[in-house]
Order: sequence, then structure tokens, then C-alpha cells
Amino acid sequence: MNSFYNPVAIYFGQESVQACAEQVRKQGSLFSRVLILTRGGGVDRNELLAPLIDALEGKHTRVLEVTLNNPDIVDIYKLLQSVGDFDYQMIIAIGGGSVMDAAKALSALQHAQIHSPADVREYITNEMYANKPSLAPWIGIPTTSGTGSEVTCWATVWDEERGCKYSVSDKRLFADAALILPELTVTMPLRLSVATALDAMCHATEAYWSVHSNPISRAYALQAIERIREALPQLKENPNDLDSREKLSLGSVLAGLAFSNTKTTACHSISYPLTLLHGIDHGIAASLSLAVVLKHNYATLIEPDKLLRAFGAEDADGVQRFLKSVYAAYGLSDSLKAYGVAEQDIETIVAHAYTKGRMDNNPAAITPEELNLMLASLL
Ligand SMILES: [Fe+2]
Repeated sequence: MNSFYNPVAIYFGQESVQACAEQVRKQGSLFSRVLILTRGGGVDRNELLAPLIDALEGKHTRVLEVTLNNPDIVDIYKLLQSVGDFDYQMIIAIGGGSVMDAAKALSALQHAQIHSPADVREYITNEMYANKPSLAPWIGIPTTSGTGSEVTCWATVWDEERGCKYSVSDKRLFADAALILPELTVTMPLRLSVATALDAMCHATEAYWSVHSNPISRAYALQAIERIREALPQLKENPNDLDSREKLSLGSVLAGLAFSNTKTTACHSISYPLTLLHGIDHGIAASLSLAVVLKHNYATLIEPDKLLRAFGAEDADGVQRFLKSVYAAYGLSDSLKAYGVAEQDIETIVAHAYTKGRMDNNPAAITPEELNLMLASLL
């Protein structure tokens, strides 16, 4: 399919804050109550965001610090309780992927009758938001560089009780605007920086080979991979270097655009049980299988040389060597065992690795037997 759709107004860099604030001011006539979700630490009071906050003058605002990580249906229920009777008409999310996922969930759940976590589960699994005439508009301001959530139209909500994850997906969940300020990512700890960068690298690579891949997604994907590949060694040398932070922020949003139209594939599908059952950070979990899945998919790739070149590699082994060098530089392991996965866990991981819309989005089918062998090779 050669069509591409993404309606998010993207503002990149300090010099674009005013323009973003102007958009908010113009939209202001349509709403009077704004919910601001932040990851805390006073990020909403960052002086870079002052023009945007000023644009909300005269509005009723409520600021909620969102401390959750990988939001679960219980987290979303608690968040709705904290919102209480504040009838939000717009949401501004300032934070990482979890904060933006929470904003999207709240957008979809606006005005829903929710009295328990089970109601959240029912609302999401039955896609009850799809019948609503409108969803609450939202603006995404990422403070990490990896999720791409500010330019995609779905959110991940986990269900720990049932051991699975749900996707809240609707074209109306695209943000009205995304404001990308690399300066906001400078305080990210190195481990989170590399984990989120690896996540973005997977978004881009998986968009490149997805069954829904298209020339526009592939162009974004290659640009994303190149920038992230260049920035990762640079960031290790100097974590405060704004140049590498800019490359990672741009790489992340380009990767987001790439997979906003394709969704992810096998690497993400395999990562979900690694995160849910073994607590491996999302981006690291997704990247652990990237090289083996690349080898598995290789024969299906369109213009494989371009993908390899973006990684600075000549063959799939070169991509694997690059990833290993990143893990080594940041003190991470590329072995599942180091993350607490034992041989006897593989069967359960395989059983939970076939997420609909992700694994079947991979260009080459992976049988459970093949996945078993892949995971065993990563132990
Ligand atoms: Fe991801």
C-alpha cells in the first residue's frame, strides 16, 4: 500500500515553541478546561514551555503528575479517579511514552462511565471509544526520545492481571500537535536514553520491513536509523551534548512517523512477554531480537542495501555487531540470561509472543518452533 497519513502538526526545536503556542491559542476558543499530565519534576514549569503555558491564560487547568510506568488498566482507573469531576476538554502530555499513552487513554475514555478497573478493560477491549462522536484533543511534548507516541494514533495499556496488553487505537487519537524539544531530554539518565533510542531504532527498522511498509515510511525509517546510529556513540562520550540529543529526538520522531502508518512487527511482539514476565526495559527488550529477526526477514526486504547502509553495515552480521557495540558501550548485556530469562522460560515467552497486529505484521512468518530456536540463540 503506497498511501501515507499523519495529521500531527510537528514543532521541532526551541524556535518553534511560539508557533505551537499560537496553535494552542487559536484552538483556545473551542475549550476552557485543560488537563496537563506531566512526569513530574516540575517539567511543566520549564522556562522553554512558558509561551505554551501563557497561551492557556484564562483557561481552567489541572496539573497531574503521572508516576506510572507502562500504564496498566488499574493505573488508568486510578488516574481517572484523580481527575475526578474535572471535565477536561483538552489534554497536554509532557513526559515519556507512558505519560503520552495515559493521555491517549484518557482522551479515549473522556466522559465514559468508569467505576472499576474492569470497566476500563471492558471499554478498551470492546473499543467502546470507536462509537463516540469525538475524542478529547491532546498535545504531546516528549521528554524522552524513543516512543514516537506523539505522532502515532494508538496507546498501549497493559493488563497485568490477565498477563497481556491492549492497544487503544483510533485515527482520532493522533495528537493535534507535537512539540519536540531536545533540551527536555538532556536530563534523561543514560540507561533510559539508550533504551529509548533502541526502541526508536526498532520502530524504524520494523516500519521498513512491515507488511504495511510504503515508500514514505521507508524514507522516514532510513533517516531515523541513520541519525540514531550516529548519535548513540556520541551520547556515550558526552551525555550533555545537545547535538546528539537533537539527533536522537529527530530520529525518534522520524521513526514515529515511519511506524505511525505500519505499526511494529515481530521484535515488538516478542518484546511484550520479555517486559511483562521478566521486567526487561521496553526498548532493550525490542532490540534484543532485532538482528535475528533481520536475518529471518532478509529475503523479503525491499532494497536491503539501503537498510544496511543506514546501520553503517555491509550485511546483517554488521547490524548485529553494531547493536553489540552499543550494548557493550552502555554496559548492557545482549544475553537473555543476564536479564533473568532461563531456558525453561522460553516456552512461556513463545506462548505470549504472538500479538495480533504485530507478529502477523512481520514480512516472513515465524513459527513457534523457529521462535523457540531464535530465543534459545539469545540466551
Ligand atoms: Fe516501542
